[in-house]
Amino acid sequence: MPLQSISSKKIIDSLSIIDTPSVPRASKTNFPTCEPSPASLIQPAPTVHTPTAPQGAESSVSASSIPTLTLRELADKRNIYIGAAGDASQFADPEYAKLLSREFNMVAAENAMKWQVLHPEPDRYDFSAGDALVSFAKSQQMAVYGHVLVWDYGYPSWVSEEERSRDAWIQLLCTHVKTVVSHYRGQIYAWHVVNEVVNNDGSLRNTLWMKTIGPEYIAMTFQWAREADPGALLILNDHFGEGLNVKSEAIYSLVKGLLQMGVPIDGVGMQMHLWLWGPPTSQELETNMQRLADLDLDVHITEMDVRTQLSSDSIEVKMAVQADTYRQVLAACLITKRCKVFVTWGLTDRYSWIPAFTGKPDVPLLFDVNGQPKPAYYAIRDLLRYP
Ligand code: XIL
Repeated sequence: MPLQSISSKKIIDSLSIIDTPSVPRASKTNFPTCEPSPASLIQPAPTVHTPTAPQGAESSVSASSIPTLTLRELADKRNIYIGAAGDASQFADPEYAKLLSREFNMVAAENAMKWQVLHPEPDRYDFSAGDALVSFAKSQQMAVYGHVLVWDYGYPSWVSEEERSRDAWIQLLCTHVKTVVSHYRGQIYAWHVVNEVVNNDGSLRNTLWMKTIGPEYIAMTFQWAREADPGALLILNDHFGEGLNVKSEAIYSLVKGLLQMGVPIDGVGMQMHLWLWGPPTSQELETNMQRLADLDLDVHITEMDVRTQLSSDSIEVKMAVQADTYRQVLAACLITKRCKVFVTWGLTDRYSWIPAFTGKPDVPLLFDVNGQPKPAYYAIRDLLRYP
């Protein structure tokens, strides 16, 4: 049977995990490990990044009509993180940077910490984009969400071009993870350690690492990340497993099994890429989040956006339904004590990944193309304001 058609529960069983009633938190795994790459392979970081407008560039946003009580202030009061994903290149627009740091206390690395950006050649790391993001966040007292150590996309071609033994694949992944996580040690609130490793039918995805190392790559990556930065939260991130379905069952079994093995996993990220129709109900979300919290795991909303394309409703109706969807997801998060992070995948509709990804125009975020707050913004703000 091909590995990817085995359910994650069976994979965990096949790793001979003993089902213990209590879930141990300490790392008990003892996979092979490695040292980070020497500093000489690392491109020097740029000097401190100060966002400045490109000469003659027109600003894409105007923060003038934002109400005085911001999402950030409300989130700070509640002791939670509200974030948006972005890339340092966007912060060059000072209005954009101002809006981001005014409304959010966290920024997620949309692309700057992916393999193809950080590790363009076998013996060269380039941290300049990631460092610019971290230094912007520091200058604005914002937390940074690290994304992503293992995914099935975003690799430079050299990674898959070379033939390697299983041990060499393990060394390659270990060295990358250790080098990256050590570089940002102490500066990252949480890492997406593995991203999208489960298929929608609940089986483990046949990722590059699944093919070359086997299912243990998941546990190994968590171990290496913990060794490199014991202070960062280590998260398994995925989509379409937010409500109650085959995929969320598989994610639940997978993380429970990892905990029972002693793998240092701290939480589950729910990407929350939604459409106007068929979002998971609040009840489903709460039940799913709570059962993960009952395993002593954090739950993060990590990449929320709500697509409006393929609907013939008026823009007013679309915006109202979108606002309600954001409200329901945040409501479920606020009810779940272990949900303290709510991140949208982008700041304004101008920079959303959805139009390029789907080939269709869309407006899935909290702010419009000019940086003006949308009904979804007010829905979230009101929810944060009134307990
Ligand atoms: C997307 C970025 O937003 C795009 O800019 C990039 O071209 C492709 O990747 N799930 C993830 C993210 O975990 O890394 C993806 O980000 C969106 C889907």
